[in-house]
Amino acid sequence: MKMMRLTVILAMLLNFGMVFAQEAENVTISIMVGASSGVDTVRQAAQQYMEQNPGVTIGVSEGSERTDDLLAEYSLFFDRQSGPDIIQLDVIWPGDLAAFMLDLNDYGAEEVIEAHFPAIIDSYTVDGKLLAMPWFTDAGLLYYRSDLLEKYGFDGPPATWDELEAMATAIQEGERADNPDFWGFVFQGRAYEGLTVNALEWIASNDGGTIISPEGAITINNDNAAEMLTRAANWIDNISPEAVVGFAEEESRNFWQAGRAAFMRNWPYVYSLANAEGSPVAGKFAIAPLPAGPLGQSVAGLGGWGLGIPSYSQNPELAADFVFFLTSPEMQKLRATESSFAPTVQNLYQDAEVLAANPFYNDLREILNSTVARPSDISSASSYRFISIAFFQAVHSVLTGERTAEEALEILESDLEVITGLPIASP
Ligand code: GLC
Repeated sequence: MKMMRLTVILAMLLNFGMVFAQEAENVTISIMVGASSGVDTVRQAAQQYMEQNPGVTIGVSEGSERTDDLLAEYSLFFDRQSGPDIIQLDVIWPGDLAAFMLDLNDYGAEEVIEAHFPAIIDSYTVDGKLLAMPWFTDAGLLYYRSDLLEKYGFDGPPATWDELEAMATAIQEGERADNPDFWGFVFQGRAYEGLTVNALEWIASNDGGTIISPEGAITINNDNAAEMLTRAANWIDNISPEAVVGFAEEESRNFWQAGRAAFMRNWPYVYSLANAEGSPVAGKFAIAPLPAGPLGQSVAGLGGWGLGIPSYSQNPELAADFVFFLTSPEMQKLRATESSFAPTVQNLYQDAEVLAANPFYNDLREILNSTVARPSDISSASSYRFISIAFFQAVHSVLTGERTAEEALEILESDLEVITGLPIASP
């Protein structure tokens, strides 16, 4: 069944690209890492591992940047039963990919899982099988230009979407005197998984539920959700550039990091890139929780990645050993200090060097307590992927003005009924 589903997913996602070439030697293992998941630190770690384990060769290849495209690449590996020994799993995938992955408990994971947040271990566990070791966690954050807030007389970051709109409008108006292309707010508005997280954050921040409730009812067609989507559609061409409906993480980061917008919604990895030498916004920004809607409170979408081993791997023991090495406290510390990838190892949030490199981790710990998860583990629902595609397409049609929020949510509700067979309820 799962195999069929993935083949269908593959057919739906035509824009994949093959970048992986398997190496033949026995002692060679391979890992594929998404282009914005810190490939350099993986190369460093592989180097270190190979020095410690002569005779082992680790091939590191770079996969797609966006999660949807990575999934399409993997579908091909699963279909033809060959590909990298280690792949990274988005926290939303374990349910959909369970049939294709090895259980890391069979390779000694119980000795190393204790250091990690139990909730994150749980999210990679399906029917008692540990499908991936947690590698880094993610939470949606508001990046803001602290220099500009000060320049325009604002005391601190916006606590509500109303405040964000007011600040974005004022800063944009002022900055346009010198920079006609300056905008207030950028986010991930492209029709893809990232929009699912952004829109879930908007809606949950206005007490509009989480698309499908934890109890397994479709709750998305409600007034609070419609109100937030209507609001977001109004951002376009007012405080957000029209191009934002094509932006994923990196497009938003490039736009904002170039100094072209006051606010940005993005993940923790942006922090070290935006603060790097030569970045136009280095030292001029800070991070805050995302704003609250009029009827709700601030929430951060929960993301993150683990490392797992597809069942086609010919070298699972060695691959598992390298997975445990990459996800170890030492390696997570390296990735946190060099690239601000948020650890899944609990005590790194008390580590002085990690905190010195990422002062925002003090807030992040609290933000991680107010996260909202996508409905990827509703046991009675069919593939999460189809739920998400229906959701982001509906939201995208509202952002582009093709449909009103009310129309889009009505259609989405019945699409989700067909896709999942779940009942409809209020959030
Ligand atoms: C980040 C998150 C991941 C999410 C993706 C959406 O990579 O970690 O969970 O699915 O963004 O674009």
